[in-house]
Amino acid sequence: MVDYYYTNAIMGERPEVINPNKEFLEQLTPDGFQKMVNAFYEIVVESDIAHYFPDDAEELALIKKRNGSYFIMICGGDERYISKYGGDFDQIKTHEMFSIPNKARIEWLGCWEEVLRPIEDKVEHQHIQSYWNWLETFSKHIVNYENDRETLEDKANTKMGCPFGHDKK
Ligand code: HEM
Repeated sequence: MVDYYYTNAIMGERPEVINPNKEFLEQLTPDGFQKMVNAFYEIVVESDIAHYFPDDAEELALIKKRNGSYFIMICGGDERYISKYGGDFDQIKTHEMFSIPNKARIEWLGCWEEVLRPIEDKVEHQHIQSYWNWLETFSKHIVNYENDRETLEDKANTKMGCPFGHDKK
């Protein structure tokens, strides 16, 4: 059984990460891995965090490839992300142009859960677990935005009226 747990990120924390087991990639195969990443993005663009990502199909196709090769590299595959797409990857810098609250991170993880569950019959669960643990922890590094705005939006969505109480005398 794989435990798709979700813990909250505290802004600014950088917990230590352990890379996923290389068996995760070996059992899934690089081809299967890329397919999973493609499926992940198809779900992302229909999700609550779709607005972070480009609408353009060509741009999205490039992101699928770049991200696929990065994630494959992290799982002990070849260094295609570095050699083909150049330079080091800085997790914080890559994401700092976006405002990412914990809520967006949780949604992002939810999209991963959706593509990991279907591979449970192909990959040993301990290796999927190692990948999940890595995603869950490393994604905490990029949370760079407090949830205040989300809280106000949530209040507005509960149809209780203006979140600032302007409608109540
Ligand atoms: C373990 C966590 C994560 C890793 C390792 C990761 C990795 C990456 C990588 C490798 C890229 C592509 C950089 C390039 O173009 O070469 C990228 C881009 C991006 N990531 Fe993440 N990411 C993570 C979490 C998240 C989360 C939680 C969000 C939440 C919304 C997010 C949003 C984005 C966006 C919007 C882009 C840019 C897409 C574009 O180029 O328009 N990422 N990420």
